[in-house]
Amino acid sequence: MAFPQLFSLALCILMLTSSTTSVSEYPSELTATFYDETCPALQSIVRDVMTQAVQKEARMAASILRLFFHDCFVQGCDASLLLDDAMGFQGEKPTGANLNSVRGFDVIDNIKGQVESTCKGIVSCADILSLAARDAVVLLNGPTWAVLLGRRDSRTASPSGATNNIPSPASTLSQLIAKFQAQGLSITDMTALAGAHTIGQARCTTFKQRLYNASGAGDQDPTMDTTLMAQLKQSCPANGGDNNLSPLDVSTPSTFDNLYFANLQSERGLLFSDQVLFSSNETSTAATAAAIQRLIATWAFDKSAFFCAFTAAMITMGNINPITDSSGEIRINCRLRN
Ligand code: HEM
Ligand SMILES: *[C@@H]1O[C@H](CO)[C@@H](O)[C@H](O)[C@H]1NC(C)=O
Ligand SMILES: *[C@@H]1O[C@H](CO)[C@@H](O)[C@H](O)[C@H]1NC(C)=O
Repeated sequence: MAFPQLFSLALCILMLTSSTTSVSEYPSELTATFYDETCPALQSIVRDVMTQAVQKEARMAASILRLFFHDCFVQGCDASLLLDDAMGFQGEKPTGANLNSVRGFDVIDNIKGQVESTCKGIVSCADILSLAARDAVVLLNGPTWAVLLGRRDSRTASPSGATNNIPSPASTLSQLIAKFQAQGLSITDMTALAGAHTIGQARCTTFKQRLYNASGAGDQDPTMDTTLMAQLKQSCPANGGDNNLSPLDVSTPSTFDNLYFANLQSERGLLFSDQVLFSSNETSTAATAAAIQRLIATWAFDKSAFFCAFTAAMITMGNINPITDSSGEIRINCRLRN
């Protein structure tokens, strides 16, 4: 069991050091050993709570992974997303991409509670989320990696950042590229991270337009496989049903694998923003689109190549603007500033 994992880890390291991937371009203040002395039980606490949560509901792994993305894209990975609204304080939870959508905060609270009772006031909520996201991937049979740690928690949130930085499912390819570029993420990172949609669910409202009114003329999206189109119309009717769920990976929604990319090749991406990675017809990004198509073809064929790229991209995303100075704090409760 341990051997294949170690083997692919070794392959990843070889690939990383021999390419100009962004990991080496952003020297990080974060380290994998940050809590080794101060909270040696940390990683096993996170893993145990995550294991229980995912055993209870496989989708929770997807929900936690998404929380990490939505946190990191707004002010960096600083747990700003976890803050509740309060008197005189506006958080990120009620904004567009998050409202009625993000979930899993109770699991983070549960981890934080156990970590606090073992190592009081030591471990940030931002680091807990970064570990929980890694364990989420591992628990659904995805790759593992050493999570870099040492982030502190923000005392601020940014509702406008949540509105502006997180891409919409109706995004065109150039819009997706712009949103990832604004975070310092490459085309390769973007495409690999989109592979997170190999797990989890989306509400009908996020892809309905593709089924009934793709370009505003009562038409269907021509880049969706017709069999999938017919199936989705059953679970996502023209009127009502906006909260009905469909799997983002129609093949294996509870396994972290590379079938997301194979789906794109056969026009079976769920969101417009998924399929557009493979099927964009924008002339302005034609050369980039061709490069992305090649990545998709490679990863659809080679799961371990995808795992390497995904791991590298998660580390890079986890390095977005970490707080390591006195502007941050170690929150006692992830929902509240101290
Ligand atoms: C490329 C741009 C992206 C767009 C436009 C996008 C959009 C969405 C949307 C609309 C949903 C469904 C939400 C709902 O119905 O409430 C979703 C779910 C999800 N997203 Fe993304 N996403 C993107 C990138 C990412 C990235 C980078 C990650 C993580 C690395 C990620 C992880 C997930 C996961 C795991 C789910 C399922 C969550 C669950 O089942 O609770 N997404 N995404
Ligand atoms: C389809 O989209 C167009 C343009 O956005 C809009 O005017 C029209 O009302 C929509 N039709 C339906 C049935 O939603
Ligand atoms: C480009 O793609 C969009 C979205 O799928 C579609 O509505 C449009 O008709 C396409 N345009 C061309 C020229 O193929």
